[in-house]
Amino acid sequence: MNTSTTDLVIFGLGETAELAYEYFTHDPKYADYTVKAFCVDAEYKKADTFLGLPIVTPEDVTTQFPLATHKAFAAAASGQLNRTREALYNKAKGLGYTMASYVSSRAFVWHNVKIGENCFILEDNTLQPFTEVGNNVVMWSGNHLGHRSVVEDHCFITSHVVISGYCTIGAYSFVGVNAAFADEVKVAKDNFIAMGAVINKPTEENGFYVGSPMVKKEKTAKQLMKVA
Ligand SMILES: CC(C)(COP(=O)(O)OP(=O)(O)OC[C@H]1O[C@@H](n2cnc3c(N)ncnc32)[C@H](O)[C@@H]1OP(=O)(O)O)[C@@H](O)C(=O)NCCC(=O)NCCS
Repeated sequence: MNTSTTDLVIFGLGETAELAYEYFTHDPKYADYTVKAFCVDAEYKKADTFLGLPIVTPEDVTTQFPLATHKAFAAAASGQLNRTREALYNKAKGLGYTMASYVSSRAFVWHNVKIGENCFILEDNTLQPFTEVGNNVVMWSGNHLGHRSVVEDHCFITSHVVISGYCTIGAYSFVGVNAAFADEVKVAKDNFIAMGAVINKPTEENGFYVGSPMVKKEKTAKQLMKVA
């Protein structure tokens, strides 16, 4: 019987952190994981505990929850076109933690799919053969990632997105609910794809695309998402 356990510190204290706590705690695939604490910068620490667990700051976390015995998970949504989550991820990594990924027991993941660290892949995602997901990627529930497609680092794929085969979703991109991508489409870095958009051609870096067929808005993705 495997009795080894993984103790986990969740970086973040918002809704995504609470959801990460839920999934790591109650998904039977992660039965050997135990969330031990939450970590936030001192300015966001308004209490000593959250969900009955200690809240610690980056200054104290490695002393109380040592690197040798704990992994970390950075939990945040898509703020500032995923820079907020990237900063949290870099903070935990910079302290020296090994980063965990959560891939739901109810996702369909073919045996040769590659998934990076600090990913959050929820129920009902389908990841077909030869697909690749980078580091710090969120795939909310119910997406289709078609064969040979790649989702690069720091992307946020919301729900019910259909990415056909041989596509690339560029780093930091946000993809809204029910968006659809034709075969072999290359989405550039830093894109915002609105809900329901139909992407049938390559896109430009920092583009904000809406509609079916796709139209590029004058506003950039970084302007829309207020990237500092
Ligand atoms: C793009 C989005 C953020 C709205 O942006 P916004 O700038 O606040 O919205 P606005 O209503 O000011 O729209 C800006 C323009 O884009 C158009 N537009 C916005 N969303 C659109 C959409 N999904 N499809 C087509 N056109 C859209 C508007 O008609 C408007 O056009 P105009 O400039 O000609 O008037 C929103 O539609 C969206 O896609 N959100 C993502 C939702 C989602 O997936 N949530 C999941 C979270 S986990």
